Amino acid sequence: MKRTPLLLAFALAAVLGCDSLPGRPDPAERYQRPSEVEDFDRLYAANCSGCHGAEGRNGPATNLGDPLFAALADPAEIRRVIAGGVTGTPMPVFARRHGGTLSEKQIDILAAGLKAGLNGAEPASRLAGAPPLVAEPPSSGSPSPGQVARGARAYTTFCARCHGVEGAGGASGGSLLEPAYLGLVSDQGLRTTVIVGREDLGMPGWQSAGEKPMTAAEVAEVVAWLGSHRISPVVVAPGSSIQ
Ligand code: HEC
Ligand code: HEC
Repeated sequence: MKRTPLLLAFALAAVLGCDSLPGRPDPAERYQRPSEVEDFDRLYAANCSGCHGAEGRNGPATNLGDPLFAALADPAEIRRVIAGGVTGTPMPVFARRHGGTLSEKQIDILAAGLKAGLNGAEPASRLAGAPPLVAEPPSSGSPSPGQVARGARAYTTFCARCHGVEGAGGASGGSLLEPAYLGLVSDQGLRTTVIVGREDLGMPGWQSAGEKPMTAAEVAEVVAWLGSHRISPVVVAPGSSIQ
């Protein structure tokens, strides 16, 4: 039979495990059930990039890809948010034990990847003196009227040049007082945006919003002032989202 040598060659190649044989699936491209995926990039692309953007930028939600976020965020807090979501906002629950889709191991991989940074390391100059990403002590209940009033002043100093007087929208930033916006963002979400900024969208962080860097008190005050405009407050007391 003329064809025997060829068949033999195929058979031999198969036995020897020749990877370049046509039609032989590359193990790296083998279909994996979503529950089996343990690669950060694939987990992030499938579960997070729709809201947080590819590489953590240019998405509708928090720019997790800013190296400043990676540097300031507490890994345990990142993990807690991924597992339990943020009640009252679009940030979903992901832990399977809470009805989500991801295993504890997958959440560990995501949290470690975000902490390691999606876009390199942060230069130390942007870190020195940065306010803590999570308020210390955690803000509890409603802010005092004094804090809200100071927040209005901090807003004028640091935000009005872009977001307009009274937060109604201005030169480059949109309105921050839209009920539809405020009703879907937590105080922590606002705080993260103020501290980290949205450089992907043209908004500076705590260090360069105004002529001087913002202090931790000013950050808390401006968040209190924005929050005071909520019509139906998002109730996200510290630790209230599912652990
Ligand atoms: C449906 C949209 C959506 C999806 C999908 C989503 N997020 Fe979020 N995420 C949000 C929003 C909105 C916030 C801000 C919530 C708030 O106001 O506190 C947020 C906040 C976060 C925060 C907290 C940031 C901070 O302020 O400290 C982390 C961490 C986070 N998301 C990680 C992830 C990861 C990891 C995934 C994928 C497994 C993911 N998110 C998928 C919408 C989403
Ligand atoms: C140099 C201009 C500039 C300054 C200063 C500035 N912002 Fe922004 N901000 C923007 C732009 C541009 C966006 C993106 C477009 C938009 O959402 O309006 C933005 C977006 C935001 C968002 C929405 C973020 C999101 O994830 O959708 C919040 C909240 C915000 N800014 C708060 C503030 C606060 C509070 C201050 C003052 C502490 C401030 N900004 C200072 C330009 C600025």
